[in-house]
Amino acid sequence: MSVHKEVKKVTTHQLQEMKRRGEKISMLTAYDYTMAKIIDHAGIDVILVGDSASNVMAGHETTLPITLDQMIYHASSVIRAIDRALVVVDLPFGSYQGNSKEALTSAIKIMKESGAHAVKLEGGREIKDSIERILSAGIPVMGHLGLTPQSIYKFGTYTVRAKEEEEAARLMEDAKILEESGCFALVLEKIPAKLATEVAKNISIPVIGIGAGGGVDGQVLVTHDMLGMTHEFSPRFLRRYLNLYESMSNAFQQYIKDVKSKDFPNESEQY
Ligand code: KIV
Repeated sequence: MSVHKEVKKVTTHQLQEMKRRGEKISMLTAYDYTMAKIIDHAGIDVILVGDSASNVMAGHETTLPITLDQMIYHASSVIRAIDRALVVVDLPFGSYQGNSKEALTSAIKIMKESGAHAVKLEGGREIKDSIERILSAGIPVMGHLGLTPQSIYKFGTYTVRAKEEEEAARLMEDAKILEESGCFALVLEKIPAKLATEVAKNISIPVIGIGAGGGVDGQVLVTHDMLGMTHEFSPRFLRRYLNLYESMSNAFQQYIKDVKSKDFPNESEQY
């Protein structure tokens, strides 16, 4: 009897092949089993267990408070749901910036305890040693440049990054450093589309954009945003595919009404 499932899983190698043949890569966030199951069955290529869970799931203002153990809890819930997608997990703030040994320990803990397939780290040249040490243990690494929310207190705003020439040149250099270090892919967040397109053309690894235009190799959105569950956050790059905030509010209000009016449960809804 075979223990292998029939479904073909997405690998980091396949993402690189997709870039080579010009097939765009789809990526969405998930933090729990039920959402991950729906997204995976829809056929997504990559699921990101983003540290945006700190905002979306826990209601924090920034991504900084989420811990390694909390990321592992979210990641293992997602992993239990997956048949096909590649699952990438964010290393949270404070778990890799200090030194490369600590970065490796954090990445190993995530891989061992959640069963995830890869990790993502924010930053360029300043975390090169950490990336290389994690890669030396055979753990695939996705990079993340542009708007890096873990550094929000350094920049002070969530505005578009690398608009000026100097910052754009530095970002291009960092992208090349991440490629040379061995990252299998790179997220570019909230930078001018022209620059993102140039980066995607100049490096061989897939570039996945969020607010980085259509000239990159794939797109990622925060699932709760694209479903319209959140409504305070409306950046230009966000396409909302549903207005779940409104649909869910209507359903909850109807339920409350039905309970109060004794309409629910009716004869056929009881034993
Ligand atoms: O944490 C996250 O959801 C992310 C995406 C916005 C790329 O890093």
